[in-house]
Amino acid sequence: MNETVPGPETGSTVSAGSAGSVGSVGDATDRPVAIVTGGAGAFGSAISRRLAAAGQHVVIADIDLDRAAAVAQSIGDASAVRVDLADEASVRAAVAEVVERRGRIDTLVNNAGYSPTGGLGDTSLADFDRTLSINLRGAYLMCAEALDPLRRSPHARVVMVGSRTWLAGGNPAYTASKAGVVGLSRTVVHALGATGGTCNVVAPGPVDTPLVDSMGMGASRAENFRRYAEATPLGRVATPDEVAAAVAFFAGPDAGFITGEVLHVAGGLQLAPRL
Ligand SMILES: NC(=O)c1ccc[n+]([C@@H]2O[C@H](COP(=O)([O-])OP(=O)(O)OC[C@H]3O[C@@H](n4cnc5c(N)ncnc54)[C@H](O)[C@@H]3O)[C@@H](O)[C@H]2O)c1
Repeated sequence: MNETVPGPETGSTVSAGSAGSVGSVGDATDRPVAIVTGGAGAFGSAISRRLAAAGQHVVIADIDLDRAAAVAQSIGDASAVRVDLADEASVRAAVAEVVERRGRIDTLVNNAGYSPTGGLGDTSLADFDRTLSINLRGAYLMCAEALDPLRRSPHARVVMVGSRTWLAGGNPAYTASKAGVVGLSRTVVHALGATGGTCNVVAPGPVDTPLVDSMGMGASRAENFRRYAEATPLGRVATPDEVAAAVAFFAGPDAGFITGEVLHVAGGLQLAPRL
């Protein structure tokens, strides 16, 4: 059984698995620690599994604590913390809680995201702001809050999950947020470089995950994904695990001298000018 205890102030919670676990909640170990935002989602859970298999204690940070705890439990030696990336206080509390309980942060994967519906002129301003606040401002807050512990890590890694739309365009808020994440990553490259840390972006093509629910595709969802596959040189869309593999590569020892890169996991769709 997983043990779940309330965290400080915010009501956020960390749960840690016991099967195969190195200790109860709060035990700091020599194991490197990774935080995966949106870790309860399709990409995030696949990323968390990959990082855990590579030997990291993974903290699944998500607005949906129940789903995050379920993913942590399925992994075993993993934890879950509630974070709302649109809320500065929540980000501060979640990062502080991880540092207090685990003692270190070695890997930060900024994966959580939101995708609104609409195009230029008919994306609501509220949706525009919401998208930027989660996808870009939230990633910034996570980097800023985790900066000191990352600088203390002997092998810090920050990986942003962007999108191939940063090149091709799409919903204006989503595209701007994902282009912004690439810009943000350049700053993180410099901030971590002196202590040997890296920052890279994984930019996937479309994948049929719950993220797409908010895009208002309705009955045309299957048809849209058929068109995506048709327009992709490799003739299909990716699986979440193919995205996770790229993230795990950047987070792993073989990528120690690679920083400031954007790696598309899009089957070549990033080369298609329009869909
Ligand atoms: N699915 C795609 O087609 C696709 C393509 C390119 C990039 N991406 C990006 O990949 C990332 C993961 O997407 P996914 O497809 O796995 O989606 P998903 O919906 O399965 O997962 C997103 C996760 O983010 C969490 N989340 C949402 N708002 C949050 C908030 N305010 N604070 C904390 N957590 C929050 C959700 O609870 C969810 O667990 C996103 O950044 C997305 O933009 C997805």
